[in-house]
Amino acid sequence: MDKNSIYGKSIIGGSEVGVISVDDMNTSDIHETNSLFWDTKGNDVLGATSLPLYGAFVSEEKCQLFGDVSGKKILEIGCGSGQSLQYVGERKASELWGIDISENQLEKTKQHLTECSLSARLICSPMEEECGIPEDYFDFVYSVYAIGWTTDLEGTFRRIASYLKKDGVFIFSWSHPIHKCVAAEDNMFVFKKTYFDESWYSLSLGGSTLTLSDRKLSTYVNALAKAGFVIEQLIEESDDEIMKSRASSDNFAKKAKMLPVTFVIKVRKL
Ligand SMILES: C[S@@+](CC[C@H](N)C(=O)[O-])C[C@H]1O[C@@H](n2cnc3c(N)ncnc32)[C@H](O)[C@@H]1O
Repeated sequence: MDKNSIYGKSIIGGSEVGVISVDDMNTSDIHETNSLFWDTKGNDVLGATSLPLYGAFVSEEKCQLFGDVSGKKILEIGCGSGQSLQYVGERKASELWGIDISENQLEKTKQHLTECSLSARLICSPMEEECGIPEDYFDFVYSVYAIGWTTDLEGTFRRIASYLKKDGVFIFSWSHPIHKCVAAEDNMFVFKKTYFDESWYSLSLGGSTLTLSDRKLSTYVNALAKAGFVIEQLIEESDDEIMKSRASSDNFAKKAKMLPVTFVIKVRKL
């Protein structure tokens, strides 16, 4: 059976095949590998993770991290399929902006928003780089399962802080690093790698390659603090109702009962 049908879409963690550690990977190699993946495979292999979901078992409907977005200027980092922009657009945000490294993903966003009678300013660029996004402009910046792809976490958070107005809010979700360490094996969950290892590695998915690193939760928190954010909320819980809605044989739901598979952080620019 295909791995994604067991673990759910957009979730990498614990049981990948073909993992190769990367010693001398540089930023442009990583961008080239990953943008090729998102241009050619992307959502066909990983599916979309989009608002109201922050991950397989965490929902904005339950967490209410945004509050009222009507009249607010909003930017999504790694906007992918455009479904999250639809979610905030339908809640009457005044401006929608999206950035993504992949032209193909941005084309999907554009098509999707057009079908929903919405529009957004879309920019094709790595999130790590200067790309003409205005500073001190946005009320909200958010990202659903995209921030972890950055090759420069502190620099990316500094850029995001610069896009926000004072007191502006940044919300993002990503795979919980403990989830990346544990895999289902013979009806047990087994530790497969050390939590502390943040080295870059490549893995094969759907016949294509992705390159990433699994950062510790403290790495995210400390980088946010350095960029001038104050943490308002950190969510690690898996939602009971969503877990119950999945089949009892579902290994991913079983895992989500025992450990966090997604984390969501809401921070405010000082
Ligand atoms: C898992 S998808 C999530 C996107 C969106 N939430 C969705 O459901 O479609 C990750 C997105 O991040 C983009 N991405 C990967 N690396 C990036 C980078 N360095 N800068 C900007 N976007 C990047 C990919 O092209 C992809 O669209």
